[in-house]
Amino acid sequence: MSFLEETVDFLVIGSGIAGLSFALRAAKHGRVAVVTKKERAESNTNYAQGGIAAVLSENDSFELHIRDTLQAGAGLCHPNAVEIMVREGPECVRELEEWGVQFTKQRTEKGEFYELGREGGHSRNRIVHAQDLTGREVERALVTAVREHPNVSVHEDHVAIDLITEHHLGREAEARAERIHCYGAYVLDVREGIVKKFLAPVTLLATGGCGQIYRHTTNPEIATGDGVAMAYRAGAAIANMEFMQFHPTAFYTPTGTPFLISEAVRGFGGVLRTRDGHEFMSRYHPMGSLAPRDVVARAIDAELKRRGEECVYLDVTHLPAEKVKERFPNIYESCLRYGIDMTKEPVPVVPAAHYSCGGVVTDLRGRTTIAGLYACGEVACTGVHGANRLASNSLLEAVAFSKRAYHDAAQSLRRTRRLLPEIPAWDDTGTFNSEEWVLISHDRQEIQSLMWDYVGIVRSRLRLQRARRRIGLIRREVEDFYRRTRVTEGLLELRNMAQVASLVVDCALYRKESRGLHYNTDYPTRDDEHWLRDTILVRSRRSGVRFLRKAAIQWEDDEEPFLWGL
Ligand code: FAD
Ligand code: SIN
Repeated sequence: MSFLEETVDFLVIGSGIAGLSFALRAAKHGRVAVVTKKERAESNTNYAQGGIAAVLSENDSFELHIRDTLQAGAGLCHPNAVEIMVREGPECVRELEEWGVQFTKQRTEKGEFYELGREGGHSRNRIVHAQDLTGREVERALVTAVREHPNVSVHEDHVAIDLITEHHLGREAEARAERIHCYGAYVLDVREGIVKKFLAPVTLLATGGCGQIYRHTTNPEIATGDGVAMAYRAGAAIANMEFMQFHPTAFYTPTGTPFLISEAVRGFGGVLRTRDGHEFMSRYHPMGSLAPRDVVARAIDAELKRRGEECVYLDVTHLPAEKVKERFPNIYESCLRYGIDMTKEPVPVVPAAHYSCGGVVTDLRGRTTIAGLYACGEVACTGVHGANRLASNSLLEAVAFSKRAYHDAAQSLRRTRRLLPEIPAWDDTGTFNSEEWVLISHDRQEIQSLMWDYVGIVRSRLRLQRARRRIGLIRREVEDFYRRTRVTEGLLELRNMAQVASLVVDCALYRKESRGLHYNTDYPTRDDEHWLRDTILVRSRRSGVRFLRKAAIQWEDDEEPFLWGL
């Protein structure tokens, strides 16, 4: 028998590394409901390959990891956020092990050590991994730990539609509110076809990224930017959406789905070459094939355009075949399925949309600008990644900041436990079941193509303006369709994709320079005098996006909610 309303202490939206690690901690303090779109393990986390960056060897140091992260971030990382993440690294790895994650270790005469891999932009070997399936191992362990916890209920095939705020309590409450509050979320139970209310004084957004807004992406189908879209609609501050990271090496297939060829392959000695066998990265960066991702992706893009070719090649044929197979068993098998034996021939690769560095603005305790709403993992903008994320800092960030969010939420729970107002049920009067589902698949593909062609690795003002006009039109059509139609998962995702694509374009148009992952041919240089700052925006009910030109996020570890000037 299904229910229409559930009240818990902590509502967690998303079951990747951010959501599940938060849920496991929060379960010590109260009842936790995790809602998740598909089956519980389906997430970006599940596909992570390379591993987790942490300082765990004697020839490494926190200072070096901090320096590498800041360098990749092209001036926009917030140093205190980076420092917190890096210093928490070893503890996060140990915590994951306590939850049951088994990392690959090396046995030597001196004892057992983590086998540490290397990735682009890192000056040391510091990537803890579980062979080349780190994410799957993390999800396996966390899903098992959560399943065994009596205080956590997991609701699969449940899609969060919107966050519940004063907006849903009527105009009067909205006008009265000095600060917006989140009371939970309306959630579509896909199997039952009903909309439920999940109410909680603490809601954590852990919905991951938005790679699906691009035609070619390493992200699974769930990555449609739902969390950013929901938070934006609810009035939260959003930042830095122009910084979309393209992974340089997704397997190139003209017809199939691209899959990731981990950066760890280059860290292991793999070399990028053009079709005629020339190594080209040393012409672009002193670190060659192991340069930071933005540099490598742009260099590949330039080579492909210059040579009129479809892909470049990642070559490991000079490395011992047995060692390659042992270190990358999953990648080796995946390539074999496409007829490529990577130990004997180079692997065809192209860049693909991979990671959103921007997201819902949080402070160092995971708090958003909406009271009661926290955000962690890829959906959040914690200040750690700046204009370009350093490889394997994402899983680390998720664990480090979900811990901080949990500490703050547990404290605030004591104060807010009894403050939930009466929340109306979901109202779908006046809507109908549409037969026009072809519109959804068509619009979804159109957004993906527009974003790939006009808002990709290299941008220009003209292309961005064209994208803005066309995506704006789709967004208005979808919004109109949404108001008249019974909600379905496909429609909710499309609505969110249109919204998030629109935010990426707006942010890209707003930043009039090139920095990190954002490269605009009309403003090809970095301009620290005017643009050494985050792109922060909120929704304005009258005019759509409102950029907060003078806003500065106070990334301090402060008791008070953080403030930003308008
Ligand atoms: P996710 O793991 O994506 O989880 C999001 C969850 O939210 C999912 O359960 C999803 O179903 C759910 N969800 C979304 N919308 C809704 C909704 N509306 N309602 C209900 N549920 C919803 N990073 C590293 O640090 N190291 C790596 O080696 C690495 N390799 C990667 C390889 C690949 C192929 C990819 C795609 C990414 C990789 N990354 C890596 C990035 C990293 O995996 C992600 O950034 C990280 O896993 C994000 O975790 P998360 O918990 O924030 O989100
Ligand atoms: C990879 O294995 O190349 C992905 C690492 C990451 O995205 O951090």
